[in-house]
Amino acid sequence: MVQTICICGAGTMGSSIAQAAAQHNFHVILYDVSTGMLEKARTAMESNLQTLVQKNKLTAEAGSAIISRIQFVSDINDCLADLVIEAIVEKPEVKVALFNQLAEVNHSEVVFATNTSSLSVTEIAKKIIHPERVAGMHFFNPATIMKLVEVVTTPFSNEQTIETIVQTARQMDKTPVLCQDAPGFIVNHVARPYYLEALKLAEQGVTDFQTIDTLLEATGFKMGPFRLMDLIGNDINYAVSCQVYDALGKPERLQPSPIQQEKVEKGELGRKTGKGYYEYS
Ligand code: NAI
Repeated sequence: MVQTICICGAGTMGSSIAQAAAQHNFHVILYDVSTGMLEKARTAMESNLQTLVQKNKLTAEAGSAIISRIQFVSDINDCLADLVIEAIVEKPEVKVALFNQLAEVNHSEVVFATNTSSLSVTEIAKKIIHPERVAGMHFFNPATIMKLVEVVTTPFSNEQTIETIVQTARQMDKTPVLCQDAPGFIVNHVARPYYLEALKLAEQGVTDFQTIDTLLEATGFKMGPFRLMDLIGNDINYAVSCQVYDALGKPERLQPSPIQQEKVEKGELGRKTGKGYYEYS
C-alpha cells in the first residue's frame, strides 16, 4: 500500500506529477539537486492551485492542504518512500546512479518507477540492485490533467511492482495502460512522425511553423507540433527523437531534424526557458 511517493526532479514533469499525487492524498517528497528548481516548482503549484480556487474548483483550505502534503527536499537522505518516481534528466547513467543511491537509503520493498519518455527501461533495470522492482510509469504533460499513464514492463519486473504502479496510477485518477518495453513505448513511437514530418516541411521551406500549427489545430489537433514541442521541452523531444531513431536502427523517415539540434544548442527549450519556437512571458 503506497502512502508516500518520492518524486525525483522538480522540472516540467516532476512538479506536475507531485501536484497530481498530492491532490489525490498521497504524501509527496519532491527531490531535486537544484533548490532553485524546487522553489520554482512550489511557486508554480501555488499559482495553479490558486487558479483552481478562483474558478471555485477547490477551496482555499484544500489548496493549502495539498501544498502541505508536499515536502520539498534537496538531500537524498530525506527520500524515504514506498514508491519512487524519477523524472530527472533523460540520461540513463544519471537515472541508474540515482536509483542505486535511493536503494541504499530506502527499505527493501521500495518500487522504482521511471518516467522516461524513450530510454530502455530494461537497460536501466539491469543496472539496478533490484531489477525486479523497476518499471516504467510514463505520465503525459501536464500530469495534473492528462489521464494516460503507460506502465512499462521489463522481463525482470515482478507482479507486485506492476500492481503497485497500476494501483497508484488509479488512485491518482489516471488510466494506466500496460505495455512492454519498446522504443518510444506506444505514444512516443506513434507520435514521432507528427513532429518529424512537420519539421521536414519547415526545413524544406514548404511553409513556416506557425502555419503548420494553425492548420493542424484547425483540423482538430489540440496542439500543433511546434506548440507541443515547446510544451514538452525541445531538449526532451530531441532526446526522444534520437533514442527512437537509434533504437529502431536509424530508419531515414525517423531521422531527427537539424532544427531540433539547433534549438537545443541555442538553449531555446520552449516554455521552460521562455523561448522555443514561440516566445513566452
Ligand atoms: P526538466 O528538464 O524540466 O526537469 C528535470 C529536473 O531534474 C531538473 O529540475 C533538474 O534539476 C533535475 N535533476 C537533474 N539531475 C538530477 C539528479 N541527479 N537528481 C535529482 N534531480 C535532478 O525535464 P522534464 O521535461 O520534467 O523531463 C523529466 C523526465 O520526464 C525525462 O526522463 C523525460 O523524458 C520525461 N518526460 C517528459 C515529458 C515532457 O513533456 N517534458 C513527458 C513525459 C516524460
